[in-house]
Amino acid sequence: IKSTLSVDLNNQISKIDPRIWGSFTEHLGRCVYEGIYQPDHPTADEDGFRKDVIDAVKKLKVPLIRYPGGNFVSGYNWEDGIGPKDQRPKRLDLAWRSLETNQFGLHEFMKWCAKVDAKPDMAVNLGTRGVDEARNLVEYCNFPKGTYWSDLRRKNGAEKPFNIKVWSVGNEMDGDWQVGHKTAHEYGCLVHETAKAMRLVDPSVELVACGSSNHQNATFGSWEETVLDNAFDDVDYLSLHQYYDNFDDNLSEFLGKSVDFDRFITGVVAICDSVAARKRSTKQINLAFDEWNVWYHSMGDDKKQKPWTQAPHLLEDHYNFEDALLVGSLAITLLKHADRVKIGCLAQLINVIAPIMTNTTGDPSVWYQTIFYPFMQVSNFGQGIALKPDTDVPTYKAKDYEVPYTDSIATYNPETHETVVFIVNKSTNKVPFTLNLSNAKFDHVVDATQFAGYDIHQTNEDQSMGLEPLKRVTVEENQAKAELAPLSWNMIRIS
Ligand code: AHR
Repeated sequence: IKSTLSVDLNNQISKIDPRIWGSFTEHLGRCVYEGIYQPDHPTADEDGFRKDVIDAVKKLKVPLIRYPGGNFVSGYNWEDGIGPKDQRPKRLDLAWRSLETNQFGLHEFMKWCAKVDAKPDMAVNLGTRGVDEARNLVEYCNFPKGTYWSDLRRKNGAEKPFNIKVWSVGNEMDGDWQVGHKTAHEYGCLVHETAKAMRLVDPSVELVACGSSNHQNATFGSWEETVLDNAFDDVDYLSLHQYYDNFDDNLSEFLGKSVDFDRFITGVVAICDSVAARKRSTKQINLAFDEWNVWYHSMGDDKKQKPWTQAPHLLEDHYNFEDALLVGSLAITLLKHADRVKIGCLAQLINVIAPIMTNTTGDPSVWYQTIFYPFMQVSNFGQGIALKPDTDVPTYKAKDYEVPYTDSIATYNPETHETVVFIVNKSTNKVPFTLNLSNAKFDHVVDATQFAGYDIHQTNEDQSMGLEPLKRVTVEENQAKAELAPLSWNMIRIS
């Protein structure tokens, strides 16, 4: 097998919206409590935020973080999380059958976002609540002063408005598991009215409507169409969610899921454009892939958890090496759609199906999962412009797809003048790789790394897994050459 990627600086997919490398923190399990917030932890700062976690999150450079859910938001009263902490109510969180103390809420999240250099993507509850709470929340967050909600924010310590730009209007409202689940028509009408009220308070907000929870859902397709039929002019983005599993322990099928991911995006783009065409509209609805990852390792354990506890160990997948390869491949797929996917959220960020894990006590206090490494590299270096990939590589047959043995893309960053190539080798053989780059000059390798050589089931609790140099990358004229290790994630930066 040989693999060639040819790109031309003049043949671009699009500028990459940095928000494509966002993430997600939900009041779920130990994401907030024992993750973000643990006042009695040795590393806790004056706000009770774990500094070890802040440092780890900063390594991922996530520009946007969705909050407070997820399924959680559909039963959440945002007012419970503001004001003096000793007066905040303890509630049942119906989504995860846990106890919510509300010791962490809106102001704490905004403070924490500033500490990790990220902007919020605030979700509103369209499950048990609706237009009124959503418009109040926008007023509380974004209105300068002189009204009931804006003055309450000031009284609670935030003189300046939070100016939250990105808002998720509900969460997975197509799913029957969602508290307050709706039909597409009900939800579409509700988004129309909610968005209208939110924009009346602050016309500068950017709104994300819920697409399908996954494309296997029976209503996928018709859901998107109906929601957009009702709310096309009111929203800017439609969301996509997708998680993959490998319950069958079938490596080639599992790594082929990036093709499924790609088709899902292509399908939703087609639906957005067909609604636009029917409406004779020139408006383009872009996509927010605001939940994506692998999720399945913890599902058995989660069923055994006792309900109604605080910060239970839920969704604590320990990711293995093959998961990192798929996550890398999904990230490459997002870049291939950078013209339409403007927001992405790796779901999630800490402890819950997450790249970053914490121990409540002891050493190490924070550890990095396998998926941390490819995500860190795309979020740090997959910036600038995505170049159209012209690939020459054989494929293998999976159940539903032809899967290329390698998945690759190149980005060009005009600020650093670096071309960065990301490649996953899904084959169990070494693969000679060639990059042909037209209309750009480069003469040296800035950095080349690989994540390779591990058993596909190896996990990283002992922190023995990590990136290592990819040796013998050669550069001449407009060509770079490397040898990809069997089953590997690779990044080559050239300038
Ligand atoms: O990320 C975990 C859960 O997955 C979210 O709460 C929900 O939106 C999705 O089903």
